[in-house]
Amino acid sequence: MSSRIKIAELLTAGSPGQKVTVKGWIRTFRNNQFIALNDGSTNANIQVVVDFENTDPAELKRYTTGAAIRVTGDVVESQGKGQRIEITAKEIEVYGDCDAEVYPLQPKKHSLEFLREIAHLRFRTNTFSSVFRVRHALAFAIHQYFNNRGFTYIHTPIITASDAEGAGEMFRVSTLDPDKLPRNEAGEVDYTQDFFGKPTNLTVSGQLEAELGAMALSEVYTFGPTFRAENSNTTRHLAEFWMIEPEVAFADLNDNMDLAEGMLKYVIDYALKNCADDLQFLNDRLLEEEKSKPQNERSAMSLIDKLQFCLSNNFERITYTEAIEILKNSNPNKRKQFKYLIEAWGADLQSEHERYLVEKHFQKPVILTNYPAQIKAFYMRQDDPKEGVPGPTVSAMDILFPGIGEIVGGSQREERLDRLTAKMEEMHIPAKEMYWYLDTRRFGTCPHAGFGLGFERLVLFVTGMSNIRDVIAFPRTPGNAEF
Ligand code: 4AD
Ligand code: MG
Repeated sequence: MSSRIKIAELLTAGSPGQKVTVKGWIRTFRNNQFIALNDGSTNANIQVVVDFENTDPAELKRYTTGAAIRVTGDVVESQGKGQRIEITAKEIEVYGDCDAEVYPLQPKKHSLEFLREIAHLRFRTNTFSSVFRVRHALAFAIHQYFNNRGFTYIHTPIITASDAEGAGEMFRVSTLDPDKLPRNEAGEVDYTQDFFGKPTNLTVSGQLEAELGAMALSEVYTFGPTFRAENSNTTRHLAEFWMIEPEVAFADLNDNMDLAEGMLKYVIDYALKNCADDLQFLNDRLLEEEKSKPQNERSAMSLIDKLQFCLSNNFERITYTEAIEILKNSNPNKRKQFKYLIEAWGADLQSEHERYLVEKHFQKPVILTNYPAQIKAFYMRQDDPKEGVPGPTVSAMDILFPGIGEIVGGSQREERLDRLTAKMEEMHIPAKEMYWYLDTRRFGTCPHAGFGLGFERLVLFVTGMSNIRDVIAFPRTPGNAEF
């Protein structure tokens, strides 16, 4: 195959007189003469000028929206407005025709809902190619951030026998035939006959295994798919999502907050610097979309301003106990506008409360710490009792972002064996099966901390998209596993 220049490179570095080959998909073909060609390297198209007088009319008919072609020709200064250069075609080869009559993507604006139904084709739109280029850049920046700081990337298992969060929201993994389940004498399913000899599920988090790594490598992180069988049909939940989970030995809650805030700022800054065109496109898309909303529902800041703002301000760090006081005395609570009213310390925070704190009260990202022990996971470090705090708390931290709510959840871990085993007993977590986790506390335990960043929630924030189904290529949600 002849060498090919990508359109992004051609548009920035190409100069008249060059002979080039480009390959891509036709976006539009106008006046039997002008092809707008896109290859996914940028939203900008290269204009290809066809010598229609010397082209077989049967060939011209094949230049339709969606067709895949190769163009070889000369770069010339463009006569038209809006582009510096264009290509005078010498040769056009059609790799794949595209019947415009049945091709679902028309050269017009489609709704995001419609595009979700044709997710196999939506990569070919400007919005989705921008989203996926930004998603890529964020993933790359995350690896770079940790690599620069001496972290080791480990791969934690996808199939596991433990429920890391203890919430029971797991997808079972089994090779047993559901119509012929083997039973034991008590009539229960006999999992000793299953593939792994015991019940297994898809992981909800790689944290527990990451902790094992940190107890030797000091700083590790895992970045992989995680699965939750929670029946949450919201714009913030997926049944399959990607999570970044660092784990750091000899670190406390403050170190953990610094690491998370540093990481978020680093990757947002990376996207601003390396995805300027895509973010500008998404910024303008959002402004356009918001025009149809009433004034009071529009964002106060544009997308890019919001990202810049996030970089230049410290995240507000407050305790759960302080947050409850703010929420109790807030107008929506007093006027009974919250769906779940905050009455007492100990209440779990709903997304309406998180968003009030972030969007109304502080108007910037907030890190909430020291939650009541009873609403958090078993592995979080138990705090010493503190004056003015009504009940036992743990060294937890959640980072709340405007428009998103919880983006990060983490904690300092309970490193004291006696405390941990007592807690597991209290929460009915089988200590015997988790001997490997407890061994780290038996053999050379140390203070350590970590967190989980929901990758799609980060991509939502940075791209300004409003539905999590639009920032992962093929979303899995209750009732939906298409593609
Ligand atoms: O708060 P979570 O459940 O924490 C954990 O899983 C810890 N084991 C992490 C750790 O300390 N290593 O989940 C972490 C983050 C949330 O803050 C959220 O951003 C995201 O994962 N998340 C989801 N994202 C999309 N869809 C879902 N159903 C999600 N559930 C959690
Ligand atoms: Mg959480």
